[in-house]
Amino acid sequence: MKIIRSATHFGSSKKASLEICRQVLIKKDSVLGFATGSSPMEIYKYLIQYYKEGLVTFKQVTAFNLDEYVGIEKTHPNSYAYFMKDNLFSHIDIDINKCNIENGLADDLEKECENYEKAIDSAGGIDLQILGIGTNGHIGFNEPSDKISAKTHIVKLTQSTIDSNSKYFSDMQMPTKAITMGIASIMKAKKIILIASGKEKAQAIYDSVYGEITPKMPASILRLHPDVSVYVDDEAGKFII
Ligand code: GLP
Repeated sequence: MKIIRSATHFGSSKKASLEICRQVLIKKDSVLGFATGSSPMEIYKYLIQYYKEGLVTFKQVTAFNLDEYVGIEKTHPNSYAYFMKDNLFSHIDIDINKCNIENGLADDLEKECENYEKAIDSAGGIDLQILGIGTNGHIGFNEPSDKISAKTHIVKLTQSTIDSNSKYFSDMQMPTKAITMGIASIMKAKKIILIASGKEKAQAIYDSVYGEITPKMPASILRLHPDVSVYVDDEAGKFII
């Protein structure tokens, strides 16, 4: 695990966005794994800027998103599908037909999970996966647990995740279930970038970097991956360096 510290979240986001650009410049038809939440938002702003400045094109990129809430329309502003369109996809030249996200409204959710996993494999696997981290160490929606859920699966969200994310839901009750890529789906990515900012993430970062490798702290499992870069600002990295 490589730790890359910057004074501010903007610094971390800029460095991480340059790594993503490098990936796309080296391999134009890269498969990128995207994340939602506040952590990657500045990265997306930089990617939009670099695209507009002509530094990079996403025309041939295929995208897979980590997770989506169950029971929410794609067009609802709180869906992760909407988030990705609003914060990235509609501002760059990516082909929207190549932007994949789990369908949380599928009639057969189990089948949806299976198909999603197959779609990642048939695209050749993810070249670079972007991750945030929950205050409880979750990645995607892989919540702390006694066992690892390897593949894309349905998850019941923990109270701490509901407490953290319900502030975004003003006109509806926050869903209590989600579909998420599993730990193995994430670990299969060739390269992983995790970005964290703010003091509320400091303990999860410390535990993931130095603590026991355990599904109770899902991000700690990333230490078993050969190419992970963790971008932290001073606050999120305060216990580790
Ligand atoms: C959500 C997402 C995660 C994200 C996490 C942290 O639960 N499913 O992918 O990493 O929240 O969110 P934030 O970046 O807003 O702190």
